[in-house]
Amino acid sequence: MKKIVVSAPGKLMLFGEHAVVYNRPCLVGAVNQRLFVEAEKISEKKIFISAPDLKISDFSVSLNDLNKEQPKEVKFVLETVKNFFQKYNIESGLKIKTESQISSEYGFGSSSAVTVCSIKALSGLFQIEMKEKEIFDLAYKTVLALQDVGSGFDIGAAIYGGVIYFLTGGKIIEPLKVKDIPLIVGYTGFKTSTSEIVKQVKAEMEKNPEYYENLYNQIAQIIEKAKAAMENSNWPEIGKLMSENQEILRKFKTPSKEYGVSSEIIEKLIDACQKAGAFGAKLSGAGVGDCIIALGEDKEKIEKAISQAGGRPVSVKIDYQGLKIEKIW
Ligand code: PMV
Repeated sequence: MKKIVVSAPGKLMLFGEHAVVYNRPCLVGAVNQRLFVEAEKISEKKIFISAPDLKISDFSVSLNDLNKEQPKEVKFVLETVKNFFQKYNIESGLKIKTESQISSEYGFGSSSAVTVCSIKALSGLFQIEMKEKEIFDLAYKTVLALQDVGSGFDIGAAIYGGVIYFLTGGKIIEPLKVKDIPLIVGYTGFKTSTSEIVKQVKAEMEKNPEYYENLYNQIAQIIEKAKAAMENSNWPEIGKLMSENQEILRKFKTPSKEYGVSSEIIEKLIDACQKAGAFGAKLSGAGVGDCIIALGEDKEKIEKAISQAGGRPVSVKIDYQGLKIEKIW
């Protein structure tokens, strides 16, 4: 095999953000914005990377320099290559090209998608059989080395696709049978740093562990109910559970005293969705900014309400295809 192209979807947190960092489950959906990695072996002892979406056209690094600090646009790919080579005792020059439909504006998980795609591409090129869980473990190790916090839920979504029930660090990854979920997504207009918010929550949690453990337990109970409701396509029930999850996220004591990990704009968008007939709505991800999600039958009406409230509807669907090989030469 000379050349390979693989792709993986982005993600959207449906239930359980923050709690999943502390050994509780979450429900995550893969979204139909995909990332593609093309990889080819070359004889020169270098890695060449082009990533037109990130305006990288001719980056190159010698194989001897893979341990050095790398520019942020290429560091996930290079850390993956380094870890893969180490694990399987391989050394080879490579030409890698990444192309992304995943908008970097929203937190849809392009870093984890590029990591899992790179592993899959390398396993194909070097003909090493890797099970999904092995890809997960290597990707999680790679991502943690670069961003030090994270449950790995985004990696799970990129590998398995669809909707998954996920426990911290991939201890459980269970694909759910969910079809045609009437999901609506709205963007607040800005993205905050996930790791910053996770660190703030951690600092506050250290002051009052019992308070947070109790909130996480409540979230975990909601997730068990949401999992059952998903498998029965009970959208009104899931909407109600979304609103309950949101209420708990509002009880966090940071970053904002008034809204917890929610915020004024998130509350405004959620309120607009509910008034437009949504079954329920909540923030998705770390909070403060980024996206909200809602469930509802009248998509057009709810999306209009999001716009009128100052947000922007984002047109995405659940992608039932996880990590896959697109082409081999
Ligand atoms: O902000 P996002 O969409 O990357 O989601 C973060 C979710 C957290 O639970 C807060 C962190 C994590 O890694 O699970």
